[in-house]
Formats: sequence, C-alpha cells, structure tokens
Amino acid sequence: MEVLVTGGAGFIAHHLAAALLRRGDKVALVDNFNDYYDPEIKRRNVRDLEAIGAEAGADVRCHALDILDKASLRRVFEASPPEAVVHLAAWAGVRPSLEKPAVYTEVNVTGTVNLLELAKEFGANCFVFGSSSSVYGGSGRVPFAEDDPVARPISPYAATKRAGELLCHSYAHNFGMHVTCLRFFTVYGPRQRPDLAIHKFARLMDEGRDVPLFGKGDSRRDYTYVGDIVSGVLAAMEKNFPFEIFNLGESQTVSLLELVASLEEALGKKARVKWLPEQTGDMKVTYADISKSRRLLGYDPRTPFREGIRLFTDWFRGGR
Ligand SMILES: NC(=O)c1ccc[n+]([C@@H]2O[C@H](COP(=O)([O-])OP(=O)(O)OC[C@H]3O[C@@H](n4cnc5c(N)ncnc54)[C@H](O)[C@@H]3O)[C@@H](O)[C@H]2O)c1
Repeated sequence: MEVLVTGGAGFIAHHLAAALLRRGDKVALVDNFNDYYDPEIKRRNVRDLEAIGAEAGADVRCHALDILDKASLRRVFEASPPEAVVHLAAWAGVRPSLEKPAVYTEVNVTGTVNLLELAKEFGANCFVFGSSSSVYGGSGRVPFAEDDPVARPISPYAATKRAGELLCHSYAHNFGMHVTCLRFFTVYGPRQRPDLAIHKFARLMDEGRDVPLFGKGDSRRDYTYVGDIVSGVLAAMEKNFPFEIFNLGESQTVSLLELVASLEEALGKKARVKWLPEQTGDMKVTYADISKSRRLLGYDPRTPFREGIRLFTDWFRGGR
C-alpha cells in the first residue's frame, strides 16, 4: 500500500510510519520541520525511518514542505498518488493555542482542507484524520463517548480539531470519500514530544529543576501508549469505514500527582514540585469510552500505564 503521512517527522507519525514500513508499505512523509520544538528531533526521526525502510526493503521518502503550500503538496500527490492519507500534521498543544490562535486555525483547518481536496482530486480511497480528546471540552460526563455533544471546546486548539472533523464529514458526505477521525487521548511513549507533561517532567527531574504543576494535582488524564495508538490507526485504515469517529484511549485515568509519583519511581529521582494556579484552557479530566472502538475496530490497548512509563523511561535514560 502507498501511504502519505503528514506531520511525518513528528512523534506519533514516526511510530506509525515505522509500522507501515515494517509491513512493506511505501511511505511518503510530509513535514515542514517547524520549530514548535527542536527540529533536530524531527530530522532524527526521519533518519531513523530511512534506516527502518532500508532494513525492511520498503520505500520511504520525506518531502519538506508546508501543508499550506498547496502547489508543492499537489506535486507530491502527482508524483505518486497515495492510496491512503493519514493526516497528522498540526499545531498541537492546548496552552500555546491561546497565544497563537491564528497559526492553529491556518494549519489545522486550512491545512486539513488542502489535504482533503487533494485526497479527493487524486482519488485516495482512505483518509484518516488525527483528532483529539480535547474536542470534548469541559464536558462533565465521563467517560467521553463519540456521540457526546462536542459544541463547547475550551481552547482554540480543540476548536480547530473539531473543525477538522466537521470538514472531514462534509467531504465524506459530498464526495463519497472514506474518512475516519480518531480522537487520540494524551499519547506518550519513546520519542514523545518534549513539550508534553511526561517528557517535560522527566527532563526537569533529571536536571534537578522545578517541576511546575498547575492546579491541585488532581486533574486526570487518560494516557495512551503510542503503540496502542498505532494499532488503532492501522485498524482504521484496514476497516476503512465510509465515515466514523473513534476514541483511541487507554480508558483509565491517572492524576497529575500519580503521574509524578510514577516518574519518580521509574527514574529513581524525587521531583521538586512548584505549584502554580490552574491554567485556562486545560481540561479537568480526559477519559475515553472505547467500547465503540473495541466493537468496530477491534481496538484493544495492551500497554498499561506502569508498563508504558517503564518503556518511556528506558528510552529517556538511553540518551534519547
Ligand atoms: N500527542 C498527543 O498526545 C496528541 C493527542 C491528541 C491529538 N494529537 C494529534 O496527533 C497529531 C500528531 O501529534 P504529535 O504529538 O505526533 O505532534 P508532533 O508535533 O510531534 O507532530 C506534528 C508534526 O506536524 C508538523 N507540522 C506542523 N505544521 C505543519 C505544516 N504547516 N506543514 C507540514 N508539517 C507541519 C510538525 O513539524 C510536526 O513534525 C497532531 O495532529 C496532534 O494534534 C496528538
């Protein structure tokens, strides 16, 4: 299969592309290597994928371009029309979206339209969109189910992800495209984005610096191991429903304080906690109901939090 992965140099894309290459798929990566975090990390991800491709005898090509540059993006589709598009390129991160809503809107909304347009024009028969648990906003009802109301996002990031889902639906409806939106719940594991809590806390603890905790430490997250997310994406590609939305979570919640304690145990270091006021835009809890994903995708997360943290810290200690 020929697969185009946008955001191809990023964290989740790395794990997905590695799995695709290992099963012999031809993979095209699109990424603009922006400096939301150190682009060298992204270049390293691509070099590793090239090595995995060479070992597996599978073709991987990286196109350094911005998904807002539709003419360049079109040339990628023209050169080799993909059968499947997995659209992961985005400005991610809740808090920075409050400061840069315009960038988030451009990349996450207009960028998504560019991908949908080209997938339509070049007849890609599968489109997977990387959405987010953030679309559930301040919903008091947990766990979150796919048919819960999602009209009240509490950050610009969440609003752009919901907009992406709505656009996906309109393309599936009008043009008969097969589109699946996957709502990822806080993804972690080796190569995790350095701005995300687990990686950031581990780094600060390792350097003996203050670990900033917002609120009272009782906010809860449904942490999902990246290998389980990859299984969910592969299942979505295989089932290729006309249009569906699925939660991909672990369906367990861990409080901020429990997270810090797990990292302390795994790293053998004590955290120097600095308490800060609650942040606007942050959700109190994320918690996935995964019964629909289990039933229709056969999704079955297999990496419990303790095991996932061990896999993360093994990687972290190995020098990243
Ligand atoms: N990591 C999580 O916990 C999580 C949770 C929910 C949803 N998501 C979504 O999953 C996707 C992947 O997330 P990730 O954690 O791997 O993030 P990431 O930042 O590591 O990957 C995103 C990649 O997209 C690229 N990109 C950004 N803007 C671009 C543009 N204009 N043109 C081309 N490339 C561009 C970046 O350079 C980056 O390499 C994102 O869409 C994110 O919103 C992630």
